[in-house]
Amino acid sequence: MRRFATSRGVCSVAVTPTLDDLPTCLAERGVGEAVLVTDEVVDPLWGDRLRARVPVRATLRLPSGEEHKTLATWERVVDELLRVPVDRATTVVALGGGVVGDVAGFAAAVTLRGLDVVQVPTTLLAMVDASIGGKTAVDHPLGKNLVGAFHPPLHVHAALETLSTLDAVQIAAGRGEVVKTALALDAGLFARLEAEAAPGHADVVRACVDAKIAVVTEDEREQGRRVVLNAGHTVGHAIERTLGYGVLPHGLAVMIGLVLEADHAVRTGVCEDSSLPDRLRAIGRRLGLPVELPAGLDPADLVAAASLDKKGRADTIRVPLPVRVGCMVPVDLPKRDLHHLFHARPTPT
Ligand code: GLY
Repeated sequence: MRRFATSRGVCSVAVTPTLDDLPTCLAERGVGEAVLVTDEVVDPLWGDRLRARVPVRATLRLPSGEEHKTLATWERVVDELLRVPVDRATTVVALGGGVVGDVAGFAAAVTLRGLDVVQVPTTLLAMVDASIGGKTAVDHPLGKNLVGAFHPPLHVHAALETLSTLDAVQIAAGRGEVVKTALALDAGLFARLEAEAAPGHADVVRACVDAKIAVVTEDEREQGRRVVLNAGHTVGHAIERTLGYGVLPHGLAVMIGLVLEADHAVRTGVCEDSSLPDRLRAIGRRLGLPVELPAGLDPADLVAAASLDKKGRADTIRVPLPVRVGCMVPVDLPKRDLHHLFHARPTPT
């Protein structure tokens, strides 16, 4: 089990074949009474296996899908936690993908001014990225993840058996974040993605978990180095918002973002490897990921959506751009130049 320091103490992370050792890990971390938050798709698949191992006082079941990552869903979870009722010794156990982890984590962050949360991610995307590092948030009509809190989990339990029930699109979505992590932090993993048809989940999850732990240990609050984990997200979030949340899975939008942002890095001389965008396109195609903007999107809408990004200041957006594989640099892109990211015309002012 990996352990690292967080603003709430220590976070442990287990990457493990099954849910069988969850009770041992929870006992080791001092978890007593627990409330399970999951969703209507994951609960029938894995809920009973978890409840057979960990006695829970109540199960809160959310609707499934990014379109439900809203303030209304979050408020419902807070309300239901209070009605259980929970107390400050209660641990919230989030069983599911990124949406469950985000909503349950954000609800735990505010209920009784902060309950411990254990993340049990059941998607590749949540295992390799979202469950680690304490970012929790819900979407707002004005943008993705605009309302939330940093609330590091007590424990993350990535049981690889839960990946067996994912469909091809969900696996591809996770691979988008894997490519991001490799590009930003792990040249060895990037080389494997270029050389191998599809590296095994266990190796990939372990490599991404290690890379992410190194970053969030150094910079939990995204004051510096953690910004590199937003690679592909300026463009990706703009695509998701423009299409409507839930239409294109987040990890697929991130992959398109990685390619377009790498194109921009090459055009502006930030990236010293002019073949990088094509290398990314080749990896993306092999892993079943989109590498071009979806047809029919109005570039002006994408530019407007990108300018609402929460990493923006008054006139600029901080976009991490690749210098080479394993090395990113944050660039403050003037909002008036955002159209370059989308190969669009300038927006009239
Ligand atoms: N998903 C990006 C981060 O955790 O910082």
